[in-house]
Amino acid sequence: MSESDSRATWAASASLAGGISTEVERGRDELAALLAITLNVNGRLWHLEVDTRTSLLDALREHLRLTGTKKGCDHGQCGACTVLVNGRRINSCLALAVMHEDDEIVTIEGLGEPGDLHPVQAAFVECDGFQCGYCTPGQICSAVGMLTEVAAGWPSHVTADVSSRQITLSGEEIRERMSGNICRCAAYPNIVAAIRVIAQGAPE
Ligand code: FES
Ligand code: FES
Repeated sequence: MSESDSRATWAASASLAGGISTEVERGRDELAALLAITLNVNGRLWHLEVDTRTSLLDALREHLRLTGTKKGCDHGQCGACTVLVNGRRINSCLALAVMHEDDEIVTIEGLGEPGDLHPVQAAFVECDGFQCGYCTPGQICSAVGMLTEVAAGWPSHVTADVSSRQITLSGEEIRERMSGNICRCAAYPNIVAAIRVIAQGAPE
């Protein structure tokens, strides 16, 4: 190939690359359309504009600055991002913020605060149910949701009599029902003890 042919080929490639990159930029801008939504979080209405792909977790942390809810895996595998939606526990990293406009969302900040702790928060303190504390907001929100499920008679994988509405919250039941919440510090025995304090009024 002559030198002038090489130059022409290079110029054509550069022009093509520039065109593709402009198209990509345009596509990105179109996808990033913002949507105005209102979320009911901890009993208060919050108005925000979000990219429609924003997870509920990112909306809470990055838009509302409610950083008590933690991001661990961002893939639904660790439970650090657990919040309560209409009383049910969910992984907020797996939910889009725009899906929850009509829902009541409660985060760790909404459960209680220093001087006015939720009983489960107080039990975690009493039983030393944490070490670094990173998983703790998710553990506590999950425990609150789980206790509601037990009160409603929902069986778990280890419930012996699934026809009974009366579920005894044994250590095995607690471990199974809390198995979606990972603790890297392995504070599990004390987490179980804290939940038993609430369920039965006494540590295991
Ligand atoms: S951050 Fe949501 S499950 Fe890990
Ligand atoms: S207390 Fe450290 S990850 Fe659970």
